[in-house]
Amino acid sequence: MTKIITIDGPSGSGKGSVSRLLAKKLGFSYLDSGALYRLLSIAASRCQVASNNKKGLESLAEHMDICFELDDTGELRALLEGEDVTLEMRTENTGELASKIAGHSEVRAALLKRQRLFAKGDGLVADGRDMGTVIFPNANLKIYMTASIEERASRRYKELLAKGEDVSLRALAEQVRARDERDMSRDVSPLVPAEDAIELDTSSLSIKEVLETILDTLDAKGFR
Ligand code: DC
Repeated sequence: MTKIITIDGPSGSGKGSVSRLLAKKLGFSYLDSGALYRLLSIAASRCQVASNNKKGLESLAEHMDICFELDDTGELRALLEGEDVTLEMRTENTGELASKIAGHSEVRAALLKRQRLFAKGDGLVADGRDMGTVIFPNANLKIYMTASIEERASRRYKELLAKGEDVSLRALAEQVRARDERDMSRDVSPLVPAEDAIELDTSSLSIKEVLETILDTLDAKGFR
């Protein structure tokens, strides 16, 4: 049976980087569920489907042609209808729109089926907001990763500066706070830790330290 590890948490908690490294280390597949919401928001913009058009978004979520692959550097590349949209997928605008459309139950139901299809082979590391609570409630290990708003905004700030983007740390902190509020307070599948999740505050930990902590937990559970 496919072993499943879920890693949920707010944006900037480090779950993406840690999940990819963990999947590689264990030889498991990887699901970046946020990327599905992000691709849907790009598809919606391309097809001029408004963010409040629930039926239109549901249909796009069911039918959009998507493909993911990890490149040589371990980063996720995404194709939408055959077009490489990796850079557009990671912009703040795309993240904002993804967070908005993620509040529609029709969209979540349509993407639920597609997400469960990623569970095949030896194992899967699934990262997102509701992996442990809704998509894979029977996962073998559930992690809920957090970090302070200041730390998460500062991580994003450094990422964007490295890409040569001109940003304000204060504006980023406000965006992070607003996105948390929307993701945590929506009616359907809000971001909350699963009852059986292990909570991990990564504010003062490096990616390597977080990865080691998770691997130690897996060993303690006799997982490896
Ligand atoms: O993790 P991310 O920043 O790529 O996710 C983008 C948005 O998608 C996030 O703000 C909320 C939504 N999302 C969700 O509702 N459920 C998930 N499992 C993953 C992401």
